[in-house]
Amino acid sequence: MPIVAFFSKGSNIELLNEWEIRLQSYYPSIKLVSLLNDEAKDAITALLWKAPLDRVKKLNNLKALISLGQGVDHILKKNKIDNKIPIIRIVDPYMAKSMSHWVVLSVLNYIRDTFGYFDQQKTKTYKSRREINFTTLKIAVYGVGAIGSVVLKDLKQLGFKVEGWSRTQKNICGVNCYSGENKFKVLLKNCDIHICLLPLTPETTNIFNNSSFKMMKYGSCFINGGRGEHVVEGDLIENCKSGQISSAILDVYCKEPLPKNSKLWEQENIRIWPHVAAETNPETAAKQIANAIKCIENGKSPPNIVKRKLGY
Ligand code: NDP
Ligand code: OXD
Repeated sequence: MPIVAFFSKGSNIELLNEWEIRLQSYYPSIKLVSLLNDEAKDAITALLWKAPLDRVKKLNNLKALISLGQGVDHILKKNKIDNKIPIIRIVDPYMAKSMSHWVVLSVLNYIRDTFGYFDQQKTKTYKSRREINFTTLKIAVYGVGAIGSVVLKDLKQLGFKVEGWSRTQKNICGVNCYSGENKFKVLLKNCDIHICLLPLTPETTNIFNNSSFKMMKYGSCFINGGRGEHVVEGDLIENCKSGQISSAILDVYCKEPLPKNSKLWEQENIRIWPHVAAETNPETAAKQIANAIKCIENGKSPPNIVKRKLGY
């Protein structure tokens, strides 16, 4: 019976039970046990989201770790896990679409001034507000991976001019794709809406800072669905205060849950979402996780192994 150690920060036993049922429908003999339970010592794989890594390190039989999300910074960040243990991540088209919906929602709210209309309702004000002409806008998506590529295609489908930026050069029909630091600056200067969908690595940490915000056009919109640490939060607040950034929509933060005393809450042109842009869905992700566990049990290499050197 394959024992899988399970930990998802902030969840309760019900989530463990749900995952067990979902996984068993593809691999009936799987048994999930809490990482914090003694039985976890027999686990060959661990299914983790923001787990206590010192505890994970004590699992002597572990052959692989599976991230309960598409991002793996929560496992790699502290450099605690032996390089020899493969890390597998979820790559779920459902999540890519989910993120795409959140980005589209954010972009449309921005150009149609949704919140201005909602405010008008409070005073029974019935008048039209400025609509930004979407044909003159350019949208930059930073990160053209499993998620960013879907977001780019969907925004293009809606009639937006989109540009993508990644580490290596990409080729997406009808989308201008760029790579390299110089092109990063070109996109910062030329685009009106900036969407971060990068993974968190040493190279991308703090990539959106005072200098990058200042390079953007005055009044730009900034959307972050990647990770909080991509952004120097104090710099963002200052640039939102000055109007350099006219609107910021955030789903992720340096510290999560976002502390009550964070200044981000108080900045009126910053919109706060609680890390829900693309949540892991047991229903859609279970099949690939069950398959990965099967591969590991049988000594085979599963798909979506993280490249440790690149950090994503
Ligand atoms: P992928 O690994 O598929 O894609 C990452 C993209 O970022 C790739 O295009 C990669 O380039 C690019 N990239 C990586 N490093 C650099 C760099 N130094 N410079 C320029 N480009 C770089 O990741 P996903 O699309 O699956 O996910 C992206 C991130 O989204 C996750 O890591 C996670 O942080 C976040 N996320 C957030 C969620 C939420 O709910 N808020 C939900 C799910 C994910 P290349 O193509 O050349 O490799
Ligand atoms: C993820 C996330 O990385 O939910 O999957 O942030």
